[in-house]
Amino acid sequence: LPSYYELPSGDKIPSVALGVWKASKGQVGQAVKHALKTGYRHIDGAWIYGNEEEVGKAIGESGVPRGDLWITSKLWNDFHAPEDVEAALDVSLKALNTEYLDLYLIHWPIAFKKGTREVDHSLTENVYPTWQALEKLVDKGKVRNIGVSNFNIARMKNLTANPLKYTPAVNQVELSFWNPQPSLISWAKENHLLLEAYSPLGGDGQVGNSLRVPEVQEIAKEVGITPAQVIISWLAQRGSVVLPKSVTPSRIDENLQVYELPQDLFEKLEKAAEGHEPKRTVNPSKGVGLGYDVFDEGWPF
Ligand code: A2P
Repeated sequence: LPSYYELPSGDKIPSVALGVWKASKGQVGQAVKHALKTGYRHIDGAWIYGNEEEVGKAIGESGVPRGDLWITSKLWNDFHAPEDVEAALDVSLKALNTEYLDLYLIHWPIAFKKGTREVDHSLTENVYPTWQALEKLVDKGKVRNIGVSNFNIARMKNLTANPLKYTPAVNQVELSFWNPQPSLISWAKENHLLLEAYSPLGGDGQVGNSLRVPEVQEIAKEVGITPAQVIISWLAQRGSVVLPKSVTPSRIDENLQVYELPQDLFEKLEKAAEGHEPKRTVNPSKGVGLGYDVFDEGWPF
């Protein structure tokens, strides 16, 4: 399986990253250090995770040259107004103690009025002004690549219908056994869009269930790898970057080792994943009072 993917900019993004969502303060630093020691070169974070300073410190202390690393962060919903974007990035750059990011994503296709949980409907329905502010960050050299997160096909089309200077380098979405999103995978392939899989093991609440799926267990036994490695390998083989989160050294080691599954076993897992009702681990639509489901392909805007 590829150890990296090439983006439209020509940059090479490592195909497995350490995800640091829910990696708590006091734990995340040692996790990042361990990951970098064991060979990870890609850290996937976000301002809203509240741990960027500790991540930055760990990166600094790791001794790995900045140029060898891939660092991603994400623009929070409060800062979609074009005039707020650069300042939001600067906060992350300072916390991470770096001059640039390899990748900066719009975290959600939902904008809040700054400092509130109130939806800004205008900036939510039309993300283009926010995107243009991100394009300026590329031109300034503060960000090498820009992309989005949690966008469904309708949201992608809504964005890419505009005259973009830079097309989204990635779309980071939930991809797991429980939520395999086959139509988004096909659309992304047709449109040369790289997907990144968050909560690949099903997230905190579902990880046990993922590892206990009979097909996952059978394949693990047959190939001689762990259930987590089966799922991470399957997602990588589907063509996505995979972002497993762990703060446990032995699991961090385990999750970096991906293997090409024999085609019949790959298809068996694909069929099992597509053979049940999809189940999301996150959908903030109701929680933030959006008024419609952010993942509904019929969202009219
Ligand atoms: P921990 O961080 O305590 O090691 P996801 O990446 O889908 O969000 O899943 C994260 C959850 O899965 C965390 O609870 C993490 O626990 C756990 N986890 C990560 N890697 C493994 C693994 N290889 N085996 C078992 N559990 C794992």
